[in-house]
Order: sequence, then structure tokens, then C-alpha cells
Amino acid sequence: MKVRHLIDSCDLTVKEVEELIKLANKIMDNPNKYNTCCKNKILATLFFEPSTRTRLSFEAAMHRLGGSVLGFADGASSSGAKGESVSDTVKTVSCYTDIIAMRHPKEGSAFVAAEVSNVPFINGGDGGHYHPTQTLTDLLTIYNVKNKFEDFVIGFCGDLKFGRTVHSLVKAMARYKNISFIFISPVELVIPDYLKKDVLEKNNIKYYESTNLEKEISKLDILYMTRVQKERFFNESDYIRLKDTYILNQEKLKNAKEDLCIMHPLPRVNEISREVDSDSRAAYFKQAKYGVYIRMALIMKLLEIEEKVC
Ligand code: NCD
Repeated sequence: MKVRHLIDSCDLTVKEVEELIKLANKIMDNPNKYNTCCKNKILATLFFEPSTRTRLSFEAAMHRLGGSVLGFADGASSSGAKGESVSDTVKTVSCYTDIIAMRHPKEGSAFVAAEVSNVPFINGGDGGHYHPTQTLTDLLTIYNVKNKFEDFVIGFCGDLKFGRTVHSLVKAMARYKNISFIFISPVELVIPDYLKKDVLEKNNIKYYESTNLEKEISKLDILYMTRVQKERFFNESDYIRLKDTYILNQEKLKNAKEDLCIMHPLPRVNEISREVDSDSRAAYFKQAKYGVYIRMALIMKLLEIEEKVC
């Protein structure tokens, strides 16, 4: 039987995403019911790039399902440091474990890894490309805050060029009705052309680009802030010049809708002032918490564990 992998947010159908969200909410309401679902199963977390939320929420998810976890948080401690290829590492680890989550700085590495994995493989971020489990977390947040997926103006603000969470979420949200996008970024960090052409224009989805957060904020139902991705810059002076282009604060929020949903995949650097954390519209720490439950649901789905078995 062919195993399922998750490389891109659209590898799951809209219906499957809905089912995962339903399951994540059920788990959140009654976590004890699921605490032996993955007994005797092992998750490997192979992280070649820094991570707090993604790796730890994957590990928390597997522990909370009664399974166990092995792996590394730094590629330097793996045989990658001796020159082993990603493909050989994943092929080997797939002999030891039941499911793998990997983060790697190279775009496309997730695809290469999934090709050789004998067990379900989950992309935990491949360079500036995609980050589908953050997207699932984002979708659970949007659904729980707004109770729907349709009829939104969504603003993405910050580093839209290298921000993999942005790329994955744009693709996922483009599948719902009456969504339009406003992409707010410095000209150096605009959203990639392939998303504009192959995802948005091809499907007649409305969008425009802007450099001005103040001007756009009143139009938004959802504002997705992002960090400027320091590690993907070729030179430090460009990073320093661009890093504080947008800082969301209470002053800017004065013109925003009362029910604006403010999201951020985290980590935040300076792009959201701490004063915003206590605003009822700030959803980003809730979003971080939801990451565990959606990953629990995803692990169950990819391991084909039926709810009634738990
Ligand atoms: C994001 C990532 O790694 O792409 N973080 C996360 O997984 N929650 C965003 C970022 O690093 O800026």
C-alpha cells in the first residue's frame, strides 16, 4: 500500500483539511481519550534548521498520543555533517520509525526525502518554499476564530519572498470562495511570481501588492504578519535595512476592523509590538497552541489510526 506524505499544503483535499480540523477540535475538547492512540509508534523529528514551535509541537503531539519520539534538533549532530545526503538519512530513519517530520534549509528537500521514505513523511519546512503543517495550524486558527473559511480579505505583511508559511497558506486559502489577498511588503521582498501566476491569476483570485500597512489595514479581516527571514539573505546590510519595515502597534490598529484576526507563525522579532499581545484581536499565541492538536490529528491520519481504536 502506498504511504501518504505531506509536502505541500494542497496535498490534502479541502475535505481532508476539514476532517483534520474537526478531529483537532475533538482532541482539544477531550485529550485523554486520545492518549494511547499511537502506543508503540515512533515519530522521528529530523531538524536541520532551528525550530521551537514546529519541532516541539510535533514531539508534544506524539507524546500526547502515547507514542515516542527520536531525532535531532541540529543537523550538525547527524551524519549530514559527514556529508551524507538527505535522501540516505531519510531512507535510513524510515527503517527505524513509523513517521518522519523533517525541516531542512534547501527548497525541494522535502520532495526528495518523501520519494525515498517507506513511512509517512511530513515537511516541517523546506527552505523558503513550503511549510504545510504551519498552514494546518493557521487554518485551525482561522476556523476557530472566524467560524468559516470564505469571504475574507487577507493581508500578508513582511517577508513574502522567503516566508514559507506565507506561500503555503496562500495556496491553501486560494481554494476557498470569495477570498482576496493584499500582499504588503518592501519591493525587495514581494511574493514570488509563481504564486501570482499559477495560483492566483490562473484561478481569477483577486489580489494586489502594496508597500503600506497603514493604508491597507482597515480593509482586512485577517492580517498575517511575518518576520524578515534573516537566514535567507545573501548580505547582512540588506537584512538590516529591511528588518523593521513594518511594526504593528496599537496606533496602526486604530483603523483596523473590530474583528480583525491578527496572526503570526512566530517567532516574532520586532514586527508586532508587545502592547498588541493583550489586544483581543491578537491570535498568535492561540495559533501556537493549536499547532499541537492539529499535528496530533495529522499524525493519526497519516498513520491511519481510526478514532475508535483509541
Ligand atoms: C516559521 C518557519 O519556520 O517558517 N516558524 C514556524 O514554524 N512557526 C516562521 C519563521 O521562522 O519566521
